Amino acid sequence: VQPYFVTSFSTLSAFLNRHHYTAIIILVDDNTRAYCLPQLLAETPQLEQSYIIEIPSGEPFKNLDMCKRIWEQLLHWRIDRNAIMINLGGGVICDMGGFIASTYKRGIRFVNIPTTLMAMIDAAIGGKTGIDFYEYKNVIGVFNEPEAVLIYPGFLKTLPSDELMSGFAEMIKHALIGNKTLWNELQTVNPHELKDWSVLLRKAIKVKQKITGKDFRETRLRKVLNFGHTIGHAIESHFLKKNKKLLHGHAVALGMIAESFLSHKKCGLPDNDLIAIQNYLIQYYGKYASGKITYKPLKKYLINDKKNLNNQMLFSLIRSPGNPLYDVACSEQDVKNALEYLGGLL
Ligand SMILES: NC(=O)c1ccc[n+]([C@@H]2O[C@H](COP(=O)([O-])OP(=O)(O)OC[C@H]3O[C@@H](n4cnc5c(N)ncnc54)[C@H](O)[C@@H]3O)[C@@H](O)[C@H]2O)c1
Ligand SMILES: [Zn+2]
Repeated sequence: VQPYFVTSFSTLSAFLNRHHYTAIIILVDDNTRAYCLPQLLAETPQLEQSYIIEIPSGEPFKNLDMCKRIWEQLLHWRIDRNAIMINLGGGVICDMGGFIASTYKRGIRFVNIPTTLMAMIDAAIGGKTGIDFYEYKNVIGVFNEPEAVLIYPGFLKTLPSDELMSGFAEMIKHALIGNKTLWNELQTVNPHELKDWSVLLRKAIKVKQKITGKDFRETRLRKVLNFGHTIGHAIESHFLKKNKKLLHGHAVALGMIAESFLSHKKCGLPDNDLIAIQNYLIQYYGKYASGKITYKPLKKYLINDKKNLNNQMLFSLIRSPGNPLYDVACSEQDVKNALEYLGGLL
């Protein structure tokens, strides 16, 4: 589906008027209930009779236990298959809400209204839904598209700056894998002072849509979206294990530095591009992991990465900004060198 950019929720009203749903359920977390729900309700009279489900915010609640509670609630309210669920929140709400809707009574319809930068350009679009299971991220889920995605950039005003920068890292990734012009543009803006996100949002979303449109179930091309994520996930898991907070996008930003080094070694990413990418990312994200990254503790997470086949480590890399490659085999020594390179910059 094509996301709609909106400046108010009259679009949602019109959408709800065109369809007849037996019930409307809105899924929020404590923050989106406080910061986003009031405006949505005020501008959408059809939601007056809706059912609201609030969950605590944060990744630890994107789990089966929470799904179970929500499915129970839906059954308790006797929600039938002609109901619709509105996911109002960040990636956690969109991923889990999409999964709950897709499986309840074999699937009810849902709409995503992303409220974080991460969700607007990534989680809410592309049709991946799911939850974490034990310590494994996103391992249970289904591919399923929402009925609609509504992007209201105004919600970004209340987003904490670390969360904004976490999403911004995915925007940088979209630029590096799919839009060189956007990459050049990003280098001239200050994300902390940007007033109007809509132009950048549109361009970043276009990159993701183009890729997922060609390979919805990630058999080939969609893998390029994993740029920065193989090493990024290992860094994220390592920090999680140590009980240190490192947001997904911050880990991916550091992963992109290491994987740009691999891109330079394995795919001919030019020197000057490598330097530009690393300087740019270090200025924003270096502080989140200063001096704390070495190869040894990350090794076990890299070996288990789901993208590996036949004991090779397979990476999604770039030949140049805007020009991606997938399934590039790298040896353990290559990866070790990349992490040592990253560690040396921190
Ligand atoms: N399905 C996909 O393709 C895909 C892609 C990328 C990420 N994800 C998933 O997305 C999740 C991360 O998403 P996220 O970064 O949005 O995290 P999140 O949903 O936890 O939101 C981050 C924080 O911001 C708060 N928040 C949300 N909107 C706000 C607003 N407008 N104002 C103030 N606070 C607000 C939330 O309550 C939360 O505390 C991860 O679980 C990840 O796996 C999925
Ligand atoms: Zn990501």
